[in-house]
Amino acid sequence: MPWKRRPFRSGTLARARNIADLRELALRRVPGLAFEYVEGGAEDESTLHGNRTAFEGLRLVPRTLVDTSRRQLGTTILGAPAAAPLVIAPTGLNNMLHPEGDLALARAAARRGIPFTLSSLSTTRLEEVAKRAGGRLWMQLYVLRDRAIARDIMQRAAAAGYEALVFTTDANVFGSREWDQRNFSAPGRPTLRAALDTLRHPRWLYNMMVRFGIPRFRNVESFLPPGKSSAVGGSTVLPGLFEANITWDDIAWIRQFWRGKLLIKGVLTAADAERALALGCDGIVLSNHGGRQLDYCVAAIEVLPEVVAAVRGRLPVVIDGGFRRGTDIVKALALGAEAVMLGRATLYGLGAGGEAGVARALEMLCTETDRVLGMLGCNSVSELEPAHVRRA
Ligand SMILES: Cc1cc2nc3c(=O)[nH]c(=O)nc-3n(C[C@H](O)[C@H](O)[C@H](O)COP(=O)(O)O)c2cc1C
Repeated sequence: MPWKRRPFRSGTLARARNIADLRELALRRVPGLAFEYVEGGAEDESTLHGNRTAFEGLRLVPRTLVDTSRRQLGTTILGAPAAAPLVIAPTGLNNMLHPEGDLALARAAARRGIPFTLSSLSTTRLEEVAKRAGGRLWMQLYVLRDRAIARDIMQRAAAAGYEALVFTTDANVFGSREWDQRNFSAPGRPTLRAALDTLRHPRWLYNMMVRFGIPRFRNVESFLPPGKSSAVGGSTVLPGLFEANITWDDIAWIRQFWRGKLLIKGVLTAADAERALALGCDGIVLSNHGGRQLDYCVAAIEVLPEVVAAVRGRLPVVIDGGFRRGTDIVKALALGAEAVMLGRATLYGLGAGGEAGVARALEMLCTETDRVLGMLGCNSVSELEPAHVRRA
């Protein structure tokens, strides 16, 4: 019989070799209903897949016979030191994957020496994350219909010492993630199949229903109607709170309540990057929201060179979307990104093993990035340049 490769089947974190293995582990530990919420993209999932295939079209060009024995990943992000050019992206409902989701992500980021971004729709209060996790904390902002919500979040984040505000601008209209919707017969009501599937995950079910309770949208809880702040009830009202009338004028409004660093997340053109610069923003995040909003949208990595050329070093450019490998990270840094935001990569780690799983995901990505640097003939991320990347 010829030898056949077998997919990853181990149940232990230590045996996972890469982010894809952590995804497999998470898939087994978390019910389909929670996994699908993380995994899916909008409509045909063309943006979601395009985020990955965009990396296929970029090849790395090494320099040979360079002494790379002094390699290190340290860099600066938004003017402050970071141990690696990575940031954990804001994701809502993290405690659906693990009962201490937000805290586990924030603690693993703090231990690694990189910033963590808490979502407005987090399942842990921003004050609790600041108190119990520490590290460099960024706060993501949705400006929802009731502007008092955004005001409250900005004032509380400033009081709790958050370093930066990440204003997400690509959710003015709520994306349609059909695979996620298929698990519910009505908003907030799982189908029989999805409900039965949770029974196959007794530890998850015990944590959610008994030990910790169903996760709640803790940051915005006081603004939601009674009985509508849980992951189940909230999902029936939250999509309706997203506001189609947010504009560039809102930057001035935000500045009344937020004096710290301000990043705009959801920029995908040079013109919008220049506008953010002109309005005094401190950075941009090139992002299509991990393929969860506009379908058939360009990948951030595809527009990175033109945006970097337009801002000419006057504005830090952070990027996200589909980053699962050190090679992906190195490509973005070579093309001029200051840092990469990790969405699903660290969420797979979270589902696979809580804080230890997130730490494992970060360790894998740092090890891979370090190895790629060495193979390209570089000792640090500052030595990367566009000539290290070529279109296939
Ligand atoms: C489960 C999930 C929830 C998300 N929630 C938010 C959110 O609350 N606010 C936000 O700005 N972006 C949110 N995003 C988008 C991420 O911040 C990030 O842009 C995206 O995940 C990057 O793509 P990747 O997952 O392929 O790395 C979410 C993404 C996922 C996967």
